[in-house]
Amino acid sequence: MKLLITGAQGMTGRDLRKVAEAQGHEVWPTDIASLRHDPEDWLDITSPDDLRQAVDRFRPDAIFHLGALTDVDACERDPEETWRVNAMGTENVALICHEKKIPLLYVSTGSVFSGDKPTPYHEWDRPEPVSVYSRSKYAGEEAVRRWVPEHFIVRAGWMFGGGAEDKKFVAKMIEIARTKGVLRAVDDKFGSPTYTRDFSERCLEIFTTGRYGTYHGANEGWCTRFEMAQAVVEYAGVDDCRVEACSSAEFPLSAHRPRLEALDNMRSRLIGLPPMRPWRVALKDYIAATFA
Ligand SMILES: NC(=O)c1ccc[n+]([C@@H]2O[C@H](COP(=O)([O-])OP(=O)(O)OC[C@H]3O[C@@H](n4cnc5c(N)ncnc54)[C@H](OP(=O)(O)O)[C@@H]3O)[C@@H](O)[C@H]2O)c1
Repeated sequence: MKLLITGAQGMTGRDLRKVAEAQGHEVWPTDIASLRHDPEDWLDITSPDDLRQAVDRFRPDAIFHLGALTDVDACERDPEETWRVNAMGTENVALICHEKKIPLLYVSTGSVFSGDKPTPYHEWDRPEPVSVYSRSKYAGEEAVRRWVPEHFIVRAGWMFGGGAEDKKFVAKMIEIARTKGVLRAVDDKFGSPTYTRDFSERCLEIFTTGRYGTYHGANEGWCTRFEMAQAVVEYAGVDDCRVEACSSAEFPLSAHRPRLEALDNMRSRLIGLPPMRPWRVALKDYIAATFA
C-alpha cells in the first residue's frame, strides 16, 4: 500500500514509518519539520494547495495523519495557531481525502475526555475536552467524521518513544535520575503509557481490518506519572535515585490536564484484535533498546 504520513518526523511518525516500511508498505514521510531533514518531504497541512499537489503527485492508497502542534502548554498560550494547525489543518486533510476518496487514519488523543471518570475511558464514552490542545484535536476528529466515511480515528495514551531523539518524559526522567539523587513526579494524574512502536503496529492492524470507526490504542494497564517514573528509574538501572510522589499543584502549568486520561481499548477487543502488551513490558523493552 502507498501510505502518505503527515507529521512523519515527530516522535510517533518516525516509528510509524519504520513499522510500515518493515511491513512492505511504500511510505512518503511528510512533515513541516522536513526542512531540517529532507526538503523533498516538506508538507504543511495548513495549505490545501500543497496537500492537493502532494496527493496528485504520490497518489496514496491511504493517509495517516499525525501532523499537529503537540506542546499542550504552548497551545494554551497560542490558541489561534493551535486551531489553525490542529483543527483547520485536519479539516484540510479530511477534505482532500473526501475529494479524492482516500481512506484516512487520524491520530487523536485520550485527553479528549474530561478526566472525571474513575476508570479508563472506552470509545463510547462522551468526549468533553478541557484544554485548547484537546479541544482542537477533538475538532479534528469531528472534521474527519464529517468529511470521510472511510476513516479510522485512533486515540493514543501517554506516548513514549523517539529513540536517540527522545526529548520527552522518559528521556527527561532518566537524565534527572542519572544526574540528581532525587526525582519528583505527580501521583494525582492517571494515564496509559503507550510505546510509539506498539501504537504504530496497532494503527496498521486496525487499518487492515477495514472496519472504519473510532478506536483507542494504548498499551494495557494504567498508572500515575509517579508510578511511571519509578518504573523508568528501575528499568534504566539507576540505583541511587529516590523517586518522590508530589501533587500536580506543585507544578503549575498553562494547560489544565485531565485527572484521568487512561484508555480502555474496548472496540479493538470487541472486533477480536489481540490485547496490546502491558505498558511495563513495552517500557522495559524501549529503555533497554534506547538507554542501555
Ligand atoms: N505524544 C503524546 O503523548 C500523544 C498522545 C496522544 C496523541 N498524540 C497525537 O499523536 C500525533 C503525533 O504526536 P507526537 O507525540 O509524535 O508529536 P510530535 O513529535 O510533536 O510530532 C508532530 C509532528 O507534526 C509536525 N507538524 C506541526 N505542524 C505541522 C503542519 N502544519 N504540517 C505538517 N506537520 C506539522 C511537527 O513539526 P514541528 O516539530 O516542527 O512542530 C512534528 O514533527 C499528534 O497528532 C498528537 O496530537 C500524541
